[in-house]
Amino acid sequence: MVLVAPSILSADFSKLGDEIKAVEKAGADWLHIDVMDGHFVPNITIGPVVVKNIRPLTEIPFDVHLMIAEPEKYTVAFAEAGADFITVHAECNNHLYELVSEVKKKCMAGVAINPSTPLHSVENVIDNIDLLLIMTVNPGFGGQKFMSSVLPKIEEAREMIGSKDIYLQVDGGINPENVAAVKEVGADVIVAGSAVFGSGDYEKAIKSLK
Ligand code: DX5
Ligand code: ZN
Repeated sequence: MVLVAPSILSADFSKLGDEIKAVEKAGADWLHIDVMDGHFVPNITIGPVVVKNIRPLTEIPFDVHLMIAEPEKYTVAFAEAGADFITVHAECNNHLYELVSEVKKKCMAGVAINPSTPLHSVENVIDNIDLLLIMTVNPGFGGQKFMSSVLPKIEEAREMIGSKDIYLQVDGGINPENVAAVKEVGADVIVAGSAVFGSGDYEKAIKSLK
């Protein structure tokens, strides 16, 4: 069974607390929190203060996806705000191993790669991470089209992980129609923004992804 992590990027921010409680009740395993800075990606979203304020509302793990430049400046703040996982992008830091090691002092650590980034860019950290995120859209916005060209890389990532205790997460454009394809090649944590928050029935949407 896969885990489903709804991305709050597609939630109604005017009632964010209610949205979070609703997806938890609907069976969400983790809450995916997309952090964007207008530099690493063209969009701006939320910071540690929001994470801290929503932390008491739910028991489920907070999966914080940092799409920001200079993530080393902010990992401690997000960890202290209540992140259970902090995922950084391989593309944004030359010292990925050190960055991951810093995150691991505080919480679980993930590394993400964009659709065009080869898997070998995570080779030197694979023994040190808890989560590997393979992006199936170019990061920046919810509601984009799933890129099926990434499927072979997900399969390779599953082989690279082997028996290691690492979650293999996929993020971007995943919906009940294409989820079988990512599961088949080995993904075990499914991020879904619009497929959950854009549906009329969160419980049904999460069930159909599972
Ligand atoms: C994209 C974000 C995703 C996005 C997912 O930059 O990292 O987490 O919110 O949303 P959907 O599922 O709508 O593609
Ligand atoms: Zn994300």
